[in-house]
Amino acid sequence: MIITTENLIYKYGVGTPFEKTALDDVSLSIEDGDYVGIIGQTGSGKSTLISHFNAILKPTSGKVIVDGQDLWQDNKHKRIQTRFKVGLVFQYPEYQLFEDTVYNDIAFGPKNMGLSSEEIEKSVMRSIEFVGLDKKYLKKSPFELSGGQKRRVAIAGVMAMSPKVLILDEPAAGLDPKGRDEILARIREYHSETKSTVLLVSHSMEDIAKNAKSIIVMNRAKCIMHASVPEVFENAGMLEKIGLDIPQITRVFISLNEKGYKVSRNIYTVEDASREIMRCLREGGLYD
Ligand SMILES: Nc1ncnc2c1ncn2[C@@H]1O[C@H](COP(=O)(O)OP(=O)(O)O)[C@@H](O)[C@H]1O
Ligand SMILES: [Mg+2]
Repeated sequence: MIITTENLIYKYGVGTPFEKTALDDVSLSIEDGDYVGIIGQTGSGKSTLISHFNAILKPTSGKVIVDGQDLWQDNKHKRIQTRFKVGLVFQYPEYQLFEDTVYNDIAFGPKNMGLSSEEIEKSVMRSIEFVGLDKKYLKKSPFELSGGQKRRVAIAGVMAMSPKVLILDEPAAGLDPKGRDEILARIREYHSETKSTVLLVSHSMEDIAKNAKSIIVMNRAKCIMHASVPEVFENAGMLEKIGLDIPQITRVFISLNEKGYKVSRNIYTVEDASREIMRCLREGGLYD
């Protein structure tokens, strides 16, 4: 397991009238190399949860163990090492760009890690390739770029630290559909090439279905489910009850199945759907 939480509780504003339990007894384990989607309504605790994984937030009680290290038991030096192991891309990370050039922005993390300038250059080049940004931008100011390009620079900056775990909080928010698919495809490629663990926070079931292998479902500060994608989407009723929805295409295939058509219920993407329809047609039609 790369990340484990044990009875993790987090409260904002302890001792004030605004005290709020944002994580309520969360115990979960994330397998090394997994691609985990984290879903849940706004305010369910997703961002609070992931902020614990690189020690930005300290549990009110409970444990966070990363790569075998109890983050708040072990000494501070080790905790700083963990920050490099877990790369966190915040929501709208483009607002955090601040260096004079794209190169320096991406190089900021690796520099902090104390890498040599050769190693820094290598990791910068590798990570702009991961996010699909042309080398010609490296000398430009980040402020000359479009919104989508800035987002890529910010993501590349975290990838450049080669974290064992890459966590992205709504990385596609605010992008157009093409931009969304593009950035998610890049992250998918990064995952399969580096074999690192990826955590993707998203409220889009389609995006999660297309990308993740397992899903953590958050609801009102609790982790109410952590299972494979098909297992989670089998619980359409439960998801609906907590204000989430299965992908539209899944809904279509479940109702086709219920109407007696011989199609699978586990269809999550349009590509799955077309493959399934072709399969049915090849095997002698959609009817019994
Ligand atoms: N800095 C904060 N101070 C007080 N309450 C907060 C703060 N950040 C988040 N919360 C509250 O904690 C709960 C969980 O928030 P958050 O983790 O941001 O949820 P999500 O990312 O799922 O939208 C919400 O009720 C939110 O209002
Ligand atoms: Mg959030």
